[in-house]
Amino acid sequence: MSSAFPTTSHAVRYHETGKPNEVLKYEELPLPVPGADEVLILMEMAVIHPSDLGMIGGTYGRLRDLPAVAGREAIGRIAKVGSAVTTLQVGDRVKMPEDAGVWRESVVAKASGLMPVPSDIPAEQACMAFINPPTAWLLLREFANLKSGDWVIQNASNSAVGECVVQLAKSLGLHTVCLVRSPEKHAANLKAMGADIVLADDDKATKALAAQWQGAAAQLALNSIGGPSAITLTRALDNGGTLVTFGGMTGDMIRFPTREFIFKDIRYRGFWMDRWARSAQPKDLEGVFDAIFSRLRDGSLKMAVDSVYPLADYASALAKAGGYSRNGKVLLRGPASA
Ligand SMILES: NC(=O)c1ccc[n+]([C@@H]2O[C@H](COP(=O)([O-])OP(=O)(O)OC[C@H]3O[C@@H](n4cnc5c(N)ncnc54)[C@H](OP(=O)(O)O)[C@@H]3O)[C@@H](O)[C@H]2O)c1
Repeated sequence: MSSAFPTTSHAVRYHETGKPNEVLKYEELPLPVPGADEVLILMEMAVIHPSDLGMIGGTYGRLRDLPAVAGREAIGRIAKVGSAVTTLQVGDRVKMPEDAGVWRESVVAKASGLMPVPSDIPAEQACMAFINPPTAWLLLREFANLKSGDWVIQNASNSAVGECVVQLAKSLGLHTVCLVRSPEKHAANLKAMGADIVLADDDKATKALAAQWQGAAAQLALNSIGGPSAITLTRALDNGGTLVTFGGMTGDMIRFPTREFIFKDIRYRGFWMDRWARSAQPKDLEGVFDAIFSRLRDGSLKMAVDSVYPLADYASALAKAGGYSRNGKVLLRGPASA
């Protein structure tokens, strides 16, 4: 970390929404001197998510005024504090403020409202603590009154959220059925994390599950795909069960089986972490992040990292993130990275 105060800073920006490889630019921007109540944060590690691509493409639930800096989730280190700041010190790790965009070398922000992040969690895990693990935690806790021994079924189970669901469910004493596109690639890993059953997400899944399940049923189903996969999830639900949709990776409309919907009194819900976080009470946020940080610290919750690229090489990172050959998240390294 350089002690000289930079006057400019690079950021990955877009001036119009569109395909990331067409609209994103690596730009040099002026960097203001922090005011009395402000701090300078140098980016340490940032994440590339499907929702970042939705935001850049103009399809996400909340869009930024243009031109905008891309990226939603990152951690940084305080490099300079304003004269009136008493709560943070140089070197402290914080969550980068999301609304300003985080695929940037540095940012000046008000000290109040910045979320401290424990320094004893590896940067590659800490940078991913704020969207997917709390989403998985809340999906398991807010929609069904689950008891130890209950079953949860999900699709896209090898996604970051899916792997968090498996690990958190195990720590809560719940069983999981995991549907994936490529079981030959993901079954061993998911089972090592605690998944009970891993199956191909195809039109044979309902029969294959019945053969292993012997009359059991799920109290909660988690859908992040869209299309016909929700039919399998719904058929696996118990009477009065709940299916929560929180993602739409195929872009197709969700399909529901009418018989089960009516005769099993199935409840369909939606969940958006962004909405939850913006309306949550501070004590509820604190409770969720205490649960996540303690598990990231002791290693009982771990997210896969495919690769880490320097911020300036964001184009290669995005190409990797959008491809089918990755195994885990693609991260961007900033100037505060060790
Ligand atoms: N609502 C919320 O608050 C919230 C919060 C966090 C995440 N999400 C959403 O949850 C989803 C997962 O996010 P993530 O960051 O965990 O994802 P991720 O780690 O990037 O993984 C993406 C997953 O989607 C699967 N996938 C991609 N394209 C697919 C397709 N056409 N058909 C079926 N599966 C497909 C991938 O399977 P393969 O490995 O087989 O390609 C992989 O399992 C995304 O839709 C994201 O936007 C929502």
